[in-house]
Amino acid sequence: MLLNRFPLVAPSMLSADFGNLQRDIGMVNDSDADWFHIDVMDGVFVPNISFGFPVLKPIQKYAKKPLDVHLMIVDPDRYLERFREYGAEVISVHYEVCDHLHRTIQAIKKLGAMAGVVLNPHSPVSLLEEIITDADLVMLMSVNPGFGGQSFIESTLGKITLLKELIARKKTDVLIEVDGGVTLENAPRLVKAGANVLVAGYTIFGSADPAKTISSLKSL
Ligand code: DX5
Ligand code: ZN
Repeated sequence: MLLNRFPLVAPSMLSADFGNLQRDIGMVNDSDADWFHIDVMDGVFVPNISFGFPVLKPIQKYAKKPLDVHLMIVDPDRYLERFREYGAEVISVHYEVCDHLHRTIQAIKKLGAMAGVVLNPHSPVSLLEEIITDADLVMLMSVNPGFGGQSFIESTLGKITLLKELIARKKTDVLIEVDGGVTLENAPRLVKAGANVLVAGYTIFGSADPAKTISSLKSL
């Protein structure tokens, strides 16, 4: 099921142990997590390269929950169809790389996936004024994208509030996802401000009991 009770928890597989990927996928399957967060980086838009289709294949094979694919790549339009074929149920693209964002969002929806728009920390919520009614989800980056395990940028909290206001003013239905530096300490404030989906990598996979950490985030 795509939408369970909020907050949805989306473990970022970037922090999984790729030598034991099947084990970590199984942990997420058996946990209270809602989605698998999949970070695809091209080394051009962001200063890191993560993984692509060969790694998505086993994730698609073993994951029993929706794949939430976060594309940190230039020209995402070239690959939307393939990501959908590889099981993406949510596909999010960065505002900063899409010259024809409206077209890209429509293309994602036409493929039958939920369409997300991602804003980098420096991009104001006001940029979404003319696209918010088309998007299914907005993801606010609370770190500069490229790496797991970075510190949360506090100004994201104010952006959640502004985004909630924009969504209410436009009378539309859009999920708010927060990605980067989410911890057990700041997560309650994020949920209180209006976050519907919490992405967490290091906080989950770097903890002694990842499944328990997922439950703690889920119970907020
Ligand atoms: C950053 C990625 C995030 C990252 C989150 O570019 O988009 O999804 O993996 O990792 P943590 O939770 O460790 O900041
Ligand atoms: Zn991400």
